[in-house]
Amino acid sequence: PDERGAGWIAVDVLAVRRKVIIDCDPGQDDAVALFLAMSAPDELEVLGVTTVAGNVPLELTQRNARMMCDIAGRTDLPVYAGCDKPLELEAIPAEYIHGNTGIDGVDVFEPQTPLQDVPAVDYIVDTLRKAEKGTVTLIPTGPMTNIATAIQRDPAILDAVERIVSMGGAMREGGNRSPSAEFNVLVDPHAADIVYNCGRPVTAMGLDVTHQVLSTRERVARIRDVGNAVAEATADMLSFFHRYDTKKYGSEGAPLHDPCTVAWLLRPDLFETKLCNLSVETRSELTLGHTAVDFWHVTDRPHNVEWTFAVDAEGFYDLLVERLAWFGS
Ligand code: BDR
Ligand code: CA
Repeated sequence: PDERGAGWIAVDVLAVRRKVIIDCDPGQDDAVALFLAMSAPDELEVLGVTTVAGNVPLELTQRNARMMCDIAGRTDLPVYAGCDKPLELEAIPAEYIHGNTGIDGVDVFEPQTPLQDVPAVDYIVDTLRKAEKGTVTLIPTGPMTNIATAIQRDPAILDAVERIVSMGGAMREGGNRSPSAEFNVLVDPHAADIVYNCGRPVTAMGLDVTHQVLSTRERVARIRDVGNAVAEATADMLSFFHRYDTKKYGSEGAPLHDPCTVAWLLRPDLFETKLCNLSVETRSELTLGHTAVDFWHVTDRPHNVEWTFAVDAEGFYDLLVERLAWFGS
């Protein structure tokens, strides 16, 4: 915490071009996170996209990630397929939210962006082994199975990790897939436990903050008005995403979870964070996947995450609209 006191932390992410690996399970909101990252070549160098089983099975998440690269004109971006199931548990499907394709809202096509031959975990391990100390940021927006497996295989790779910016967990908000747990952590709580306790800086975007960035009809219309193919695909996917979540939450729009990770890297000033301990429940049948965030520092457990608790939602959507316009017409 800096001199501004609890609730704030000095973040030195401005004016640096960060090397990032996006580890995702598209998913409409993962897809928007990919677009946002690709729209920021001055700030982010996307080294690769690794995919994992999560919202839908791996054969769909890897295909969906490649489709997004095609739509964004980035058929050069290497996309890898990773773990097809969680470390210890069985997969939990989420087609009822994301549609059978995982990215319902856009028409599915066979992408030109190739799938790399190398498995995602091998790619993560090799890339981090070759990277200089503290130079690569990992952005998991799905279950954290790939990253946890890479860490298990060679813990020394963590030296190369500058930071992990994850979407997962919930504190003040209840769970979204069980009463206590957020989907990404619930699917693979053992992997999340490894990642949150890996010893490198972690910024955690949980439901407390993602439920503040709702894709209202007005915001989706602003995105569509940008008028290029990437913005149109984003608006189409969000219009679908809308249907289930607005009914579930009785809200005006769906939470746009995963892009919060990339948005924080681009504009940390839009978010408020606090260093806390986050511990994952890995045993209880009732509260499996719960993230116990010690927000008020009532224990002496070590501070292992920067927990995000507030966001300027208008600023977030302004950023998204501005960046989607970067793709041109
Ligand atoms: C998370 O679960 C998935 O449904 C979304 O893609 C997001 O990563 C939200 O709980
Ligand atoms: Ca996701």
